[in-house]
Amino acid sequence: MDLEGLKRQAAARALEDVRDGMRLGLGTGSTARHFVDLLGERVRAGLNVVGVPTSEATRAQAEQCGIALTTLDETPQLDLTVDGADEIDPALNLIKGAGGALLREKIVAAASSRMTVIADTTKWVDTLGRFPLSIEVMPFGLGATRAALRRTLEEHGCPADLTLRAGAGGLAFVTDGGHWIVDAKCQQIPDAGRLAVALNGIPGVVEHGLFIGLATKVILADPAGVRVIERPVGR
Ligand code: A5P
Repeated sequence: MDLEGLKRQAAARALEDVRDGMRLGLGTGSTARHFVDLLGERVRAGLNVVGVPTSEATRAQAEQCGIALTTLDETPQLDLTVDGADEIDPALNLIKGAGGALLREKIVAAASSRMTVIADTTKWVDTLGRFPLSIEVMPFGLGATRAALRRTLEEHGCPADLTLRAGAGGLAFVTDGGHWIVDAKCQQIPDAGRLAVALNGIPGVVEHGLFIGLATKVILADPAGVRVIERPVGR
């Protein structure tokens, strides 16, 4: 089976947890796209749910699929968020953000009682960091923010090359929130929890792609089948 087939399998398994009346966070990226697509099929067959999209791209897709949408202002507590990830470690900590939606993704996941991560098995790693870490920053003061990022990453044992993410026409990529993204190529992050706290302490950093303690379930698909790894709820 090809990679898209595996992503769809993981998405289909996540859909088994969705019940009538649920308030759902809808993730962003190619794997989450399969989930929204399959959810749309169920909605058109009569399932009653509301969703909060984590990006404008997901909003457009969900609207097209006929999924009723709400906001965290109207519905501040969600039952379940289903989203993809760039890397997943055995503690179910994540790197997210390759799609540029990490800020809304983190806000939505934090507002959810449960977060299910769907992925193909290539996303599973022993230690986070091989995949570039996305850090959403304010355009103002970028030089100073970059210097602080470099220092902080070094202090946490993961010196990194920092690249401002490029968007269309050679300009900086702009997130749905109007910010820029710096990608940090660290190779390995020895203590992702400590680094996450330190990054949030840098003025100019809006958010980063380390999702610590948010995922409660991971559904990993590989050609041999689907593996489900759970963490007890109660955070
Ligand atoms: C979007 O900002 C990201 O966090 C995605 O959820 C993540 O990059 C996984 O995307 P894919 O499912 O496309 O690999």
